[in-house]
Amino acid sequence: MPLSISFAAEKLPSKGSLIIAVPDGGKLAPLAKQLDKTTGGAISRAIQIKKFKGKAGANFSLLAPAKTTLDRIVVIGVGDPKKLTAVDAEKFGGTVLSTVEKTDGAATLLLEPMKAALSDADLAARVATGAYLRDYKFDAYKTVNKPKGGLSRLSIASKAAAGARKVFAEYKAIASGTIVARDLVNEPSNILTPPEFAKRARALSKLGVKVEVLGEAQMKKLGMGSLLGVGLGSQHPSQLVVMQWNGAAKSKKPLAFVGKGVCFDTGGISIKPSAGMEDMKGDMGGAAAVTGLMHTLASRKAKVNVVGILGLVENMPDGKAQRPGDIVTSMSGQTIEVLNTDAEGRLVLADALWYTQKRFKPEFMIDLATLTGAIMVALGQEFAGMFTNSDELAARLTQVGNDEGEKVWRMPLSDTFDKMINTPNADMKNIGGRYGGSSTAAQFLQRFTNDVPWVHLDIAGTAMGSPKNAISRTWASGYGVRLLDRLVKAYYE
Ligand code: BES
Ligand code: MN
Ligand code: ZN
Repeated sequence: MPLSISFAAEKLPSKGSLIIAVPDGGKLAPLAKQLDKTTGGAISRAIQIKKFKGKAGANFSLLAPAKTTLDRIVVIGVGDPKKLTAVDAEKFGGTVLSTVEKTDGAATLLLEPMKAALSDADLAARVATGAYLRDYKFDAYKTVNKPKGGLSRLSIASKAAAGARKVFAEYKAIASGTIVARDLVNEPSNILTPPEFAKRARALSKLGVKVEVLGEAQMKKLGMGSLLGVGLGSQHPSQLVVMQWNGAAKSKKPLAFVGKGVCFDTGGISIKPSAGMEDMKGDMGGAAAVTGLMHTLASRKAKVNVVGILGLVENMPDGKAQRPGDIVTSMSGQTIEVLNTDAEGRLVLADALWYTQKRFKPEFMIDLATLTGAIMVALGQEFAGMFTNSDELAARLTQVGNDEGEKVWRMPLSDTFDKMINTPNADMKNIGGRYGGSSTAAQFLQRFTNDVPWVHLDIAGTAMGSPKNAISRTWASGYGVRLLDRLVKAYYE
């Protein structure tokens, strides 16, 4: 059950856990001071004993505080409110949740005005968002030793409760879209096959998203030999999902988001080594982000037209699987020599991108893909690699990414990289040379964009195997949903 979060007037609760937010310096605000008096100064004494100075995230608890009916009082530092960013506020919310997540029943966070850089309403809503994201677990498959009980309700007591409620309605749409993406990435591949993924995307129709699913016969008719080649070794049929959210006038060109959805990537005949291969259950992180994004946009009824395209396949070795050296013909008509069956993501995206621009004539296309191990070598796990033919989109995504804590770093495209995928035997090959692996992969994709404004985000490092932080505790981060939702909100609504 997701945590229920609400906003209430600024008042001291009489039951459960009370969390007091204390800014830099460690001084108590009026209501907290009043409670301190009731307890005979227990809170201020504890602050002294602990040498608590209100540093961001620092915290301690007092159990069964005397002269109150509270279970506990938690004191937690906010840091310097004037320097508090939206990302800091969410981190704070995550830490707040962590201090009480194992306690039973309800908790109240007392957030008294503190002249923060964010408005009181935005601060409270961001804190709530952080708590909501932190609360996410992937434990549906645990049947024994599953922790029971725990926090069921978090109430945020703030003067700005009404405003916060309104803002949080929007942020909650982002957080739940992020959780949709996390759930898909965490799900194992015996469950989340291409048809099952398509079924889950179909469920978005209850939010008003129009969903079509193209099967292998339809894709064959369209000439998608590149995408279909990847799924040849699988027992599960490949699928192309087309989602449309129409929140603006029909005449408005749609924005297009395209996701790599390799439900499992063994490498195919160019099989991967077994160590760490289990991570390839997350090779549909791009498709998961696009699905989560559609969920968010529809949930908050975004005033924009958007299409979301998922190329769903499973890359398996088999008697029927495609071989190194095979030459396939893509929907664009361009032929591809498949020199490594493990460079399959680009083969899927080639047809998905071509189809998207041809059918929808979008304002722009942004693809998300766990495309190359090389992007992790270059950028680590905090930044997604961004490749684009549009300086404007690059600037916008960089800005939004920095503001929202889902960062991108621009990487180069160039003629030199483009030449590296030429081959005597076909129009191109699906691998480059030894160096610049992320750039040659991007260059390959660009050949299927038909010069539409386009961005490729390589999220191999950011979508999965994510380092745990204050608002993300499982293997899957849900990276991309928030970044793209905020891009849409800031520039296209
Ligand atoms: N799905 C992988 C990339 C990947 C690796 C994602 C590690 C997340 C973690 C992709 O399909 C792949 O296998 N890429 C190859 C390309 C190579 C064969 C040119 C790679 O990166 O090694
Ligand atoms: Mn691969
Ligand atoms: Zn892959």
